[in-house]
Amino acid sequence: AHIWQGLLNEYRDRLPVSQSTPIVTLGEGGTPLVPVPTLSKKLDAQVWVKVEGMNPTGSFKDRGMTMAMSKVAESGANTVICASTGNTSASAAAYAVAAGVNCVVVLPKGKIAAGKLAQAIVHGARLVQIDGNFDDGLNIARELSRSYPVALVNSVNPYRLQGQKTAAFEVVDTLGDAPDVHMLPVGNAGNISAYWMGYNEYAGRTTAATMSADFDAAAADPRDFAPVATRVPRMWGIQAEGAAPFVHGGPVANPETVATAIRIGNPASWDYAVAARDDSNGFISAVSDSEILDAQALLAAEAGVFVEPASAASVAGLIKAGEAGLVQKGWKIVCTVTGNGLKDTATALSRQEITTESIAPTVEAAVELLGL
Ligand code: F0G
Repeated sequence: AHIWQGLLNEYRDRLPVSQSTPIVTLGEGGTPLVPVPTLSKKLDAQVWVKVEGMNPTGSFKDRGMTMAMSKVAESGANTVICASTGNTSASAAAYAVAAGVNCVVVLPKGKIAAGKLAQAIVHGARLVQIDGNFDDGLNIARELSRSYPVALVNSVNPYRLQGQKTAAFEVVDTLGDAPDVHMLPVGNAGNISAYWMGYNEYAGRTTAATMSADFDAAAADPRDFAPVATRVPRMWGIQAEGAAPFVHGGPVANPETVATAIRIGNPASWDYAVAARDDSNGFISAVSDSEILDAQALLAAEAGVFVEPASAASVAGLIKAGEAGLVQKGWKIVCTVTGNGLKDTATALSRQEITTESIAPTVEAAVELLGL
């Protein structure tokens, strides 16, 4: 049996890794692609969710963090910093432990799900709360990394996207080719940019991101490889209505949504995301908070997959696209569900009526209650 060795080992030839790069890994990647039969039937299509909550810290951020933190270790830096809505900070904190470096996280006060905050705490990160949102935090973290000896591990660090592109590789490796549509939630817009880069690389094509001066020259040139995929998917990005700068066509000053992970008004990877949308013949649209929570409940009840609210935005967007007649018969559609539902149980349970039935601690009482 092949035991998964983590992204950097599995996709080493396509990543900016050299002999002198220490591999900082927690075994991330290799996440399941789970079919959603009820949605497939309803849409007359084939629908899967890519369950990124199965990564070591429970979100897709680990793909970017293994790459970014390995480069930090290679550079000899001893402190990393990030701004976060919760998942990046959880991942950075854990990978900092693995790399043996210090971690500082800048967090919007009161807007981080409890599980994510717990992760940053148990992994020993230094927690800096701000009376502001993610966008304010990212400005601070970027500025500090420019002027002081702290390495930035937000997705504006190009190594992050290099790691995250491997999720697209896995989809193609699993399905045999790219799907017709790939859907994902869009916040700071790094992930949609990374998937687009990954799908194009596997099809032997370059993208603006691949060729950008931001990217390490050691990153593989896709034209040096035989194509693995014959095509690329349409990229459909989904935002929360109250935090939908791509839908409005510019930054949103006070983003608000129940999906705190994507409560972002001024996405850093704006140009790459627009390129992914336009070059793929895709779109970026918005769904309401209640559509997000409905999709979260549907995935839990019908697919057996518990995701956090932001992740459910992709599936909410698919349901909406289906109702609008945008889904063609027989299409293969993959929705990335970005983070684990256990990170934010409070939001999920806030809409559930919890009914526990109490009995005496005996077999007989259980038999009677259950009518067996
Ligand atoms: N889904 C989840 C669960 C996220 O945590 C994020 C981003 C996104 C989707 C959006 O991805 O930013 O690449 O467009 N979370 C960041 C964080 C901002 O700080 O954890 P994106």
